[in-house]
Amino acid sequence: MNLILQIWRQENAQTKGKIIEYPVQDISPDMSFLEMLDILNRQLITNGDIPVAFDHDCREGICGSCSLYINGEAHGPDRRVTTCQLHMRKFKDGDTIFIEPFRADAFPVIKDLVVDRSAFDRIQHAGGFISVNTSGNTQDGNSIPISKHDADEAMDAATCIGCGACVASCKNSSAMLFVGAKVSQYALLPQGQIEAPDRVQNMVAQMDLEGFGNCTNTGACEVECPKGISLENIARMNRELIKASIKS
Ligand code: SF4
Ligand code: FES
Repeated sequence: MNLILQIWRQENAQTKGKIIEYPVQDISPDMSFLEMLDILNRQLITNGDIPVAFDHDCREGICGSCSLYINGEAHGPDRRVTTCQLHMRKFKDGDTIFIEPFRADAFPVIKDLVVDRSAFDRIQHAGGFISVNTSGNTQDGNSIPISKHDADEAMDAATCIGCGACVASCKNSSAMLFVGAKVSQYALLPQGQIEAPDRVQNMVAQMDLEGFGNCTNTGACEVECPKGISLENIARMNRELIKASIKS
């Protein structure tokens, strides 16, 4: 396949960026999107040009680093896949593909297609954990009964990989799907109950502090989420927040 890539180039956070056109030839439909960018970068390096900076790590849909906005969609046109799992067969020979970074005030561009998502880390640090007594008297987790329904819902919430596609696809740059998933994965389990009121209040406070917008129930986040995190997690987070504010 021969393609025209229109890629956002930006030297650093201080400079203005712009779209630059790059043609690429002989792209196999079996390549992943990131492999296609590798080919472009090899071409740029060979010609003495600066390669396009983009985030990646596991390349198997687990780490959440590959954050690209492709033809106006977070992680591109496929559903339930990350950019690293997106294959070039989803495009046609001769296509023009626009590639941009995830955009949100809370995700400033560092360089080209790389954005700073440390806001998510700070939200996680604010409460996305449980404290466990490791004195030797700890109860074996397997001896605590949990209903199948709750275990499944907690596991579904825990599949959030923190990629930020929910924020990038939301017109308000809301992080509520991400935070809802992180709150839910503990709120549904007995191990998460002790810190539950503090967790939700602290994580939501940090989310607001980072400058993410509010949820207006558009649902774009759920559609673009590569892990199929449900909007139900936002509703659960809101219920947890109300419960916590009544208690405190
Ligand atoms: S909720 Fe989905 S889109 Fe948002 S960070 Fe988690 S995995 Fe990514
Ligand atoms: S590179 Fe890890 S999820 Fe894509």
